Amino acid sequence: MATEPNTALDSRIVYVLNGPNLNLLGKRQPHIYGYETLADVEADCRKLAAELGLEIRFHQSNREYEIIDWIHEARETACGIVINPAAFTHTSVAILDALNTFEGVVVEVHISNVHKREEFRHHSYVSLRADGVIAGLGTQGYNLALRRVAHLRDKARASKG
Ligand code: DQA
Repeated sequence: MATEPNTALDSRIVYVLNGPNLNLLGKRQPHIYGYETLADVEADCRKLAAELGLEIRFHQSNREYEIIDWIHEARETACGIVINPAAFTHTSVAILDALNTFEGVVVEVHISNVHKREEFRHHSYVSLRADGVIAGLGTQGYNLALRRVAHLRDKARASKG
């Protein structure tokens, strides 16, 4: 009997999602977030994804519903989601609920070390679903997250046989 197609394992697509104010990366509080722009991050992600044999869908929005819609899209098409939900990390049950409908790998990324900052940044709704969390490694965190998605995808495919 043919095995059922499994989007989460068979797809090479990874969504890289960015929440509010990250469009201002490079200009916004550079002492916290650095001088690299989101376009630089996207270029780095695309370069590494090509090396890893992955395909990137890179998005940023200041609107919660758009992020939720991309997560719904990822459900049908992607093996992983790398997400920096920015301030929605600390507030959004709706983004958590959307991620809970996704079967692939989820890695949460924060450029800054949120645990070293204000107390309200210490709690993350998204961490309740994330398979891993990277914080405080600057924009390098995105590349490390992509490597983790590739690794977990390979591992899951190998164990499936
Ligand atoms: C952030 C940390 C959040 O607390 C903050 O609201 C952001 C960016 C980070 O990447 O360090 O906008 O997610």
